[in-house]
Amino acid sequence: LPDPGVTALTGPDVADRLPRPGAESDKYRRGVVGVVAGSDRFTGAAVLSVGGAVRAGAGLVRFASAAEPVAQVRARWPEAVTTILAPGEGVGEVGRVQAWVLGPGMGTGDDAHAPARSVLDTDVPVLLDADGLTLASRDPGLLRRPAPTLITPHAGELGRLLGVPRAEIEARRLHHVRRAARELGVTVLLKGSTTLVAEEGRPVRVNVTGTPWLATGGTGDVLAGIAGAFLAGGMSCYDAASCAAHLHGLAGRLAAGEPGAGQAPIAALDVALHVPAAVRA
Ligand code: APR
Ligand code: MG
Repeated sequence: LPDPGVTALTGPDVADRLPRPGAESDKYRRGVVGVVAGSDRFTGAAVLSVGGAVRAGAGLVRFASAAEPVAQVRARWPEAVTTILAPGEGVGEVGRVQAWVLGPGMGTGDDAHAPARSVLDTDVPVLLDADGLTLASRDPGLLRRPAPTLITPHAGELGRLLGVPRAEIEARRLHHVRRAARELGVTVLLKGSTTLVAEEGRPVRVNVTGTPWLATGGTGDVLAGIAGAFLAGGMSCYDAASCAAHLHGLAGRLAAGEPGAGQAPIAALDVALHVPAAVRA
């Protein structure tokens, strides 16, 4: 049944909201996004989330993590400015970061706590994903912070945050995404075959630009990077989340090919590489 509290963004709606550089733009005005992701065990999530941010048009991507993910990010994305963090070290003074992406592949052990805390204690917007969400479900105090917060869970991650089984989230996605936004006081992007974006006092935005070919490991990390770049560019959590979901879905579709015209499997990195084509479209 049509729900008056649910809306969708069209392509032109997204185009209107996208930050575009003016003649006088410089990289700082376009937005500096800080990414804290990856660990010596999980380096791929770091490469993919940085890739999403680079390809979504961040003015500058600053990446801080352990030595191994830093080496991988440097090799794949020379555009990123990197900092190696010692085990258990926070991000400290990192220059001019306007929004942070925190969590993909960072691990959930003792060493993850200090970097997570240091990012969440800043007074700029933070996007929290993956392992960052696991840390927050153990310590809900992490979500009480002085600036806007966007969380990007799949159903399992949202279930852990709310203390309900994944199947219960899947059965009533609209209810739970609204409830999470209200109870946690954050903007919530709930991933799945359709994506829902909820913020207290606003209609839920639904996105259906995606394709089932996106159901492959790492595409969520790319989405986090795209939305982080938009946050750093000055968009609200609500707009950054819904525009990122729209373009991420479209990028996946462009990478996989049109139905009937010979579709093929995609890898997460392909999604990052197709973000510019999605923006053009
Ligand atoms: N149709 C359209 N989009 C889909 C579909 C589908 N059928 N299935 C998944 N997607 C999209 C989601 O909307 C989301 O944008 O693919 C992305 C998947 O993101 P995640 O669920 O975060 O998965 P990801 O992090 O990339 O990889 C799996 O998640 O559960 C953890 O530990 C697990 O490391 C693993 C990781
Ligand atoms: Mg994920």
